[in-house]
Amino acid sequence: MTDRPAPTDAATGAANSMWGGRFAAGPDAIMEAINASIGFDRRLYAQDIRGSRAHAAMLAAQGIISDSDARAIGEGLLTVLSEIEGGAFRFQTALEDIHMNVEARLKALIGEPAGRLHTARSRNDQVATDFRLWVRDQCDAAVGGLRALIGALVAQAEAGADWVMPGFTHLQTAQPVTWGHHMMAYVEMLGRDIGRFTDARARMNESPLGSAALAGTGFPIDRHATAAALGFDRPTANSLDAVSDRDFALEFLSAAAICATHLSRLAEELVIWSSAQFRFVALSDRWSTGSSIMPQKRNPDAAELIRAKIGRILGAAVALFTVMKGLPLAYSKDMQEDKEQVFDAADTLMLALAAMTGMIGDLTVNRDRLEAAASSGFSTATDLADWLVRAAGLPFRDAHHVTGSLVAAAEARGVDLPDLTLAEMQAVHPAITDAVFGVLGVHNSVASRQSYGGTAPDQVRAQVARWRGIMESWG
Ligand code: ARG
Repeated sequence: MTDRPAPTDAATGAANSMWGGRFAAGPDAIMEAINASIGFDRRLYAQDIRGSRAHAAMLAAQGIISDSDARAIGEGLLTVLSEIEGGAFRFQTALEDIHMNVEARLKALIGEPAGRLHTARSRNDQVATDFRLWVRDQCDAAVGGLRALIGALVAQAEAGADWVMPGFTHLQTAQPVTWGHHMMAYVEMLGRDIGRFTDARARMNESPLGSAALAGTGFPIDRHATAAALGFDRPTANSLDAVSDRDFALEFLSAAAICATHLSRLAEELVIWSSAQFRFVALSDRWSTGSSIMPQKRNPDAAELIRAKIGRILGAAVALFTVMKGLPLAYSKDMQEDKEQVFDAADTLMLALAAMTGMIGDLTVNRDRLEAAASSGFSTATDLADWLVRAAGLPFRDAHHVTGSLVAAAEARGVDLPDLTLAEMQAVHPAITDAVFGVLGVHNSVASRQSYGGTAPDQVRAQVARWRGIMESWG
């Protein structure tokens, strides 16, 4: 635990440094330890100061405090900001959280006017505002990280639009697909992730500031002005909801968990593909690790760690859902438990996105291995069945049965479908002709799958072009 306090106040019975009048004694040291959030919420310092500056300026514009007090507060807060950024600031556990730490320092710097800053405001709307600002930035950061990864995947897809590889279901060879098609599948997933972060950002972009403790305030404040100053679209419409709502954090964690699930699946494929048994891809030196005992090893540690990170991120989501689910309106201190979860999930997601982007960008693809693997495992059996439907007029169910017999025949001889002779095929069904060999090759197979969104190289190139257009719109 950071900043664990020495048991001073309680032991000496000194008056409470924050609540003054009502309290004769300070808190027990353990009370202070469980109550304080400054060990982690100091991360909100910039948002806290920004919110306070907007609030003070509004108070002055509304004639609630004097212009000179507002000026002193505004300048004092900038001094606090530079002290924090310069590393000179002394955070104190006794002052509980970032809000009280900043205000206490402001008081030390400018004296009496500092006490006017908290007019028409509570830490409840203050923390809700600070945290929304922080999570809003993280939505933007996640979108930025996702865009970079999409760029790396689209480049891979473009290079390998017509490289043939096995497509799997049940991790059993199913039908040939193209490398580009497989890369673009992840682009679609990550595109939806961008949509989720963007939607969440738009929904959270309302200002809780001025909701005060829970009921609003009797002071003639202008919530639209502070909302605009902080880049929010509008003020929140219900003060009880505003101070007790953490949907924005839950939405961020949910979007992050889905995104991390996608990263984990791609990571899993990299682990499989880079194994000695597959050798579909090789990770660069920059993205591999060695073994301290087995000199031949090249381990995909980053992929494995990305695969695991979903545990932390989903864990954070579950933790915060659990914190929130039974809380009565409005604010409860339980909600202080929101921050560490979101901080850790956001950091973890950004690291995973960056590592995945690096790995994908550096990936060497073994085209020959891909194609050899695509050609084995009777991967064109469906093409053969389709051909029997088209060329020999069989109902698909019968064609499926005939093809099954042909696969069995090939399997019995230990060869693949194109290696069967015409006579062997005709022994299974007399309608089969020489023309069947045209559909048994993997390149023909993928080229034939021209349905919209199919694996044909032309279709893949069309999707790459569509995404290039989207990427251009990002600037
Ligand atoms: N540190 C608190 C939190 O993160 C700030 C709000 C405190 N409000 C209160 N009524 N004690 O939730």
